[in-house]
Amino acid sequence: MLTIRNIRKEYRHPNGETIVAAAVREFGAAQGEQIVLAGPSGSGKTTLLHLIAGFTEPTAGEILWDGERIDAWAGRRRDTWRGGNVGYIFQNFNLLPGLDVRENVMVAAALGNRKFGSEERRRISDLLARVGLGDRAGHKPSQLSMGEQQRVAVVRALINTPRLILADEPTASLDRDNADIVLGLLQTLCREQGSILILATHDHEVRARFPRVHEMTRPGRIPA
Ligand SMILES: Nc1ncnc2c1ncn2[C@@H]1O[C@H](COP(=O)(O)OP(=O)(O)OP(=O)(O)O)[C@@H](O)[C@H]1O
Ligand SMILES: [Mg+2]
Repeated sequence: MLTIRNIRKEYRHPNGETIVAAAVREFGAAQGEQIVLAGPSGSGKTTLLHLIAGFTEPTAGEILWDGERIDAWAGRRRDTWRGGNVGYIFQNFNLLPGLDVRENVMVAAALGNRKFGSEERRRISDLLARVGLGDRAGHKPSQLSMGEQQRVAVVRALINTPRLILADEPTASLDRDNADIVLGLLQTLCREQGSILILATHDHEVRARFPRVHEMTRPGRIPA
């Protein structure tokens, strides 16, 4: 269960101006909910996803996970929490180029403190097969198309059965067919796992497939 109250993320520009990158008064998500983050470019969608994942800290406000103030935790504790509970899909995939597909997924499993046995290996193979990459486990990211890399990023985000999946424009660089595959897989697996899915997108067709939309508004600037 995720709860956000009155958060703001501000950046101070060298000219003294304060940029409000994201501001959210009230936001809650229960297990199993699927929510689109919508809003124009610069309205703070990525900033909000980073705040929820604990990559950055809010300037003000509270982020609670099961009633605990995760924004108040030290970075190391947030890292451990993220590894076990959050699957993050970056817009640019962030796959490790020196590792093959299976190894990229295994790194995420290791960060989630999973012991690595035959069951985990089977789960990786199963998920890769479900996204049509069953025969690509030994390939490097550079040998894959954009759509294939994005599907690996989805599998990597899901491998620890996270309770929270944060996806930043996961279909932006995909054609319609691949977008449908990636979105369908994300929504199906989140439903099966009871995970919260929060997905930022500009795409109206993607948005239409979600039961709930949170609209971000451009918070603006405060002059020096
Ligand atoms: N590190 C930073 N320093 C200063 N300003 C920042 C920083 N990060 C983000 N911003 C500003 O915060 C605002 C929100 O940015 P953000 O990337 O969250 O928007 P977005 O909704 O994800 O946009 P897009 O749809 O283009 O991805 C922008 O005006 C951006 O310039
Ligand atoms: Mg963004």
